[in-house]
Amino acid sequence: MALKIIGAGLGRTGTLSLKLALEHLGFGPCYHMLEIMSAGRERMPQWLQVVRGTPDWDAIFEGFASTVDYPTCTYWRELAAHYPEAKVILSTRDAEGWFDSVHRTIFAPEHIDSLSDSPVSEFMQGAVTGAFGDHINEREYMVEYFRRWEEDVTASLPPERLLVHRLGESWEPICDFLGVPVPDQPYPRVNTSEDMLGNRDTRENINIPEEAEARMRGYLDAMRDKAFGD
Ligand code: A3P
Repeated sequence: MALKIIGAGLGRTGTLSLKLALEHLGFGPCYHMLEIMSAGRERMPQWLQVVRGTPDWDAIFEGFASTVDYPTCTYWRELAAHYPEAKVILSTRDAEGWFDSVHRTIFAPEHIDSLSDSPVSEFMQGAVTGAFGDHINEREYMVEYFRRWEEDVTASLPPERLLVHRLGESWEPICDFLGVPVPDQPYPRVNTSEDMLGNRDTRENINIPEEAEARMRGYLDAMRDKAFGD
């Protein structure tokens, strides 16, 4: 099955909510960083191939109808060319708010430190953080990077192929873009900084793949419950 939707938005732009929303609308399963972290032993070798320059996209996305979040957003241009029928959704938010969010979660200095020399460091450097060089903690640089990213995506795609989805928006624009009915349930709101910081891997358990994977599966289930549970 070829991908139908490619998420071009960077991490911390509501990608987990978007993943659950797309799955709810029938465009799932939707790939996300949590798919890798919850099955790292199977999926990490595929991503090492990507960062070493020999991606097998069809193998990576086998069984998936859509993809959002890091690391796939890094490759949105390649994926849009590889899956020419796929539509693109750029999830985005206020650039300063994005920096505040990444700096306390996925790019928090202590988290980035804990990943160096870990089993995932080549992957993280190649597919996620390498783009920032030594500037990952510099607000001004990162805010400018984020704005340029948004401009690049919007300037590169024909408007009919692209939806810009701003954090806080509800179902209507997405449903309109995808040609599906608006669900009765509220649009998901998951993976807040508080959610994520409560599920942090420690340096100890990141080196025990079974434990790290199980923790991430549990987190994904908890976020699904939060989004659509009673
Ligand atoms: P904060 O870190 O500011 O809380 P991602 O899933 O890509 O990592 O993004 C998570 C960020 O998006 C979190 O930001 C979360 O609060 C915010 N978010 C997710 N869904 C949202 C929604 N429906 N409305 C507003 N913010 C949302």
